[in-house]
Amino acid sequence: MKIVKAIFCCSIFLLQLQVPAFAQAQLQNYDGRYEQKIDSLLAMMTIEEKIGQLVLYTSDIDVTGPTIREGYKEDIKKGNVGAIFNAYGAAYTRMLQKIVMEETRMKIPLLFGYDVIHGHKTIFPIPLGESASWDLAAIEKGARIAAIEASAEGLHWTFAPMVDIARDPRWGRIAEGSGEDTYLTTKIAVARVKGFQGDNLGELNTILACAKHFAGYGAALAGRDYNTVDMSDRVLREVYLPPFKAAVDAGVATFMTSFNEVHGVPASGSQYLLTDILKEAWGFDGFIVTDYTSINEMVPHGVVADNREATALAMQAGVDMDMQGGVYQEYLPALLKSGAVAEQQINDAARRVLRMKYMLGLFDDPYRYSSESREKELVMHADHLAAARDVAKKSIVLLKNENNTLPLKKNIRKLAVIGPLADNQKEIIGSWSAAGDFKKAVTVLEGIKAAVSPATKITYAKGANINDNLTDQIAQAVKTAEQADAVILVLGEEALMSGEASSRSSIDLPGVQQQLAQAVHRTGKPVIVVLMNGRPLTINWLDKNAPAIVETWFLGTQTGHAIADVLFGDYNPSGKLPVTFPQSVGQIPLFYNNKNTGRPRSDQKYTSKYLDISNEPLYPFGFGLSYTTFNYGKVAVSKPSYTMSENIMLELNVTNTGKVAGEEVVQLYIQDLVGSVTRPVKELKGFQKIFLAPGETKKVSFSLSADDLAFYTRDMEFKAEPGFFKVFVGTNSRDVQEAGFELVK
Ligand code: NOJ
Repeated sequence: MKIVKAIFCCSIFLLQLQVPAFAQAQLQNYDGRYEQKIDSLLAMMTIEEKIGQLVLYTSDIDVTGPTIREGYKEDIKKGNVGAIFNAYGAAYTRMLQKIVMEETRMKIPLLFGYDVIHGHKTIFPIPLGESASWDLAAIEKGARIAAIEASAEGLHWTFAPMVDIARDPRWGRIAEGSGEDTYLTTKIAVARVKGFQGDNLGELNTILACAKHFAGYGAALAGRDYNTVDMSDRVLREVYLPPFKAAVDAGVATFMTSFNEVHGVPASGSQYLLTDILKEAWGFDGFIVTDYTSINEMVPHGVVADNREATALAMQAGVDMDMQGGVYQEYLPALLKSGAVAEQQINDAARRVLRMKYMLGLFDDPYRYSSESREKELVMHADHLAAARDVAKKSIVLLKNENNTLPLKKNIRKLAVIGPLADNQKEIIGSWSAAGDFKKAVTVLEGIKAAVSPATKITYAKGANINDNLTDQIAQAVKTAEQADAVILVLGEEALMSGEASSRSSIDLPGVQQQLAQAVHRTGKPVIVVLMNGRPLTINWLDKNAPAIVETWFLGTQTGHAIADVLFGDYNPSGKLPVTFPQSVGQIPLFYNNKNTGRPRSDQKYTSKYLDISNEPLYPFGFGLSYTTFNYGKVAVSKPSYTMSENIMLELNVTNTGKVAGEEVVQLYIQDLVGSVTRPVKELKGFQKIFLAPGETKKVSFSLSADDLAFYTRDMEFKAEPGFFKVFVGTNSRDVQEAGFELVK
């Protein structure tokens, strides 16, 4: 079995891509035991049957794209399709599998894929929210549980994790990733791949993961979904590709292409991305599926004249499976005859798909995942709900807490719960909750009622709709607030204001919600704002006027309980922002690891700044408060200089100086002061989430290798350069202790 193919490419850049010593971790353990079986199978298959393995169609029980191809059951019967998505449920998947097993010549089991993005039936926080936990074990567990539920419902494959870096909060799909930072996204990508796939794809409770969208999708110009991407190769390699590479190293089974172009070529036609980098340089042995109809979309992109040309380009680029486009089925046979595509290419693609079907055990028993009894036993199991609540509370970020407004006492006499999201079930599970049932979600009002003392009087007013101009409910909300001791004001976006095809040009609170907040604020009652949103919002007024703000994203099935856990102090918030919150949409893109420019901002006129606003964010990357306080001691670097082969050791003491126990995410950043190319002012290179009892001090140590300091140099070599570095350790990307060291040859 091949491990890594030699890189054969004239581009000097490609020659310098790091070639892993082994192929993927999980596929690496694979001893090649199925390759002979695949050889025999391929030898028996007609060309149409082979092409069928490269075709993925949607069933009609869900819609996740622009067109529905009619007659997918007919296609299954004819052996024209190897995989189906948007079909789940033990009975339904079994019924479809039966068609293949009973009516096709080769009886090659179908592969069932689905967007299991943040939980299957038990819905976890949206990925951006979950990333705010910085808790890799909890995130891995979330993916594990998603796989357990999905596999019990007949699914073999999820279209997750999305590992796209997103530096523009106007882009709705920022909700589906891990935010703006490459290091954090990389760690979370690995946790999610491990969670979905477990240790053995042959186990009944594991599913294939899919690293998407390869690549650069998050850099859509102006944050408009599907828009053009234009970036340097250096930025592509340094910022956007590392999470994908880490997913390969973690053994991810599949990749999905992105809708956008990279260096002028749509990703589904990019040999550079799919073959040269992914399959050759990184040694990826799984299969590559397109995003929805993205082969066909190369026609309007303008790199091919028609679907036939698009098909040839995609096959040559390295696409193995066509999602919903129907063009592999339609054009590959003729392209093969004409010599535009080689049989070897089709064989290789089919082999990659068949390999996964073998690994899943589908050839032993094609129905093994479609189990009504497992479905009944496991879906929304109490343990899953408990885990969802656990990671949901960890995902909450305390943005402001003046005079310890929070936590509230559980025996507070009168509490008003106000706002369009306060008693809302439908929105709170967030976008891409595909199979999730919002009717099972716990609202904030329900969560609060379940938490307070029996003597507490809870009143509720909606106050406004999420996104219209009607102000007629505000007066009632004000009355409700006037009669209470404190107000919980639950504001934010609709679930589908983020996610796919959900870009916004303004990231203010939608509708009249700020007006509602202002009216309630005028009552003089303490107003605690609970935010729900799939992206950073510009909330300057709230920041100035509300005594307390908690960012809760969309937390999923257990929303209300998790929020109540934090509001009443059963859980001390520990979440940290995985993305910068700007003051104004005009500052976008605003991210912490920017470069310095030749004219860093100062009071001088001719420096890099705006006339009307500072360069600072409203809340920096990594920011999040706690009900306790943490003191950071001096950072000690073990010696002043290191050679390239030595590890740089840092340590410091962190003390809980407050009255309650809490967790802190200790963050490590570096700056390479002088490089052959300009370097960011800060780059996250490590973090640790630690628990401290009141008064407790813990020593936190970090170790950095030369690899952690490496970047693409002026000659596009990936390596560390000797010179001086700063290190910063702190509670967020802005508030840090500083030290330094020298790296010598
Ligand atoms: C299009 C989306 O871009 C992708 O992320 C998703 O997996 C597919 N549709 C399938 O629903």
